[in-house]
Amino acid sequence: MSETGIIDGKAFASTLCGEIARKVGKLKAEKNITPGLAVVLVGNDPASEVYVKNKARQTREAGMNSFEFRLPATIGEAELLAKVQSLNLNPEVHGILVQLPLPKHINESVIINAVDPKKDVDGFHVINAGKLATGQEGFVPCTPLGCLMLLKATLDLPGKHAVIIGRSNIVGKPMAQLLLRENCTVTVAHSKTKDLPAIVKQADIVVAAVGKPEMVKGSWLKQGAVVIDVGINRVNGKLVGDVDFGSCQGIAAAITPVPGGVGPMTIACLLENTLRAATA
Ligand code: GUN
Repeated sequence: MSETGIIDGKAFASTLCGEIARKVGKLKAEKNITPGLAVVLVGNDPASEVYVKNKARQTREAGMNSFEFRLPATIGEAELLAKVQSLNLNPEVHGILVQLPLPKHINESVIINAVDPKKDVDGFHVINAGKLATGQEGFVPCTPLGCLMLLKATLDLPGKHAVIIGRSNIVGKPMAQLLLRENCTVTVAHSKTKDLPAIVKQADIVVAAVGKPEMVKGSWLKQGAVVIDVGINRVNGKLVGDVDFGSCQGIAAAITPVPGGVGPMTIACLLENTLRAATA
């Protein structure tokens, strides 16, 4: 039994944010451009409130402008569309993020695809999703991008078998595209997958993004697998991932903790995408 390494996403993200802040300073000094990120929050989902507050704080800490818009849950689709369109036209706004989920009466795809693809720092617009799928340069969703950075810093990717659990547009699908681009062999498992433990057993890399607390067990893993836990679940007031962290000790070669793993990387990548949008 060898010791399991902890992949310190918090430290990695902190270094990345420091580099971004330095580049922002340079952009201001040399080109008089201050990158601006607009975050739109509809309604008052408590988890979304926390995310949005953290995003805004870190945006300011990186020296960027943060524009926050809190809109009532009762807002109509047309009114929200008008807000997005005004942000598309605002030259001070380089990146636009509409926090998901949106209230049920609003069609998420309509809103996501109304964002100017050049300001789509979430990488959710169908144009950016298509660019990722076809190997063209565009914006890549922040969470899978952060997972990829952690994986690249942990192991050599070509030829590895990656099993992604979850097929969401936000994480699972773009993660699969990114790992394919790195020459991994990719399996995407989901709620209808049969005998998930047997599939996970084949994986050199496991990315868990299902939203089920501590579902993936250490006994499912191949000895030496690298585990990326995207889950953030609140159980009895405590945050846990989609992976049963304790049972992976001595089996996984390395694993991301929750909290302090993938979460901080998502925001760092959002800032990176916003800086890119401001320099394009
Ligand atoms: N809700 C959960 N994750 C995300 C994210 O990365 N971006 C947005 N816009 N909403 C989310």
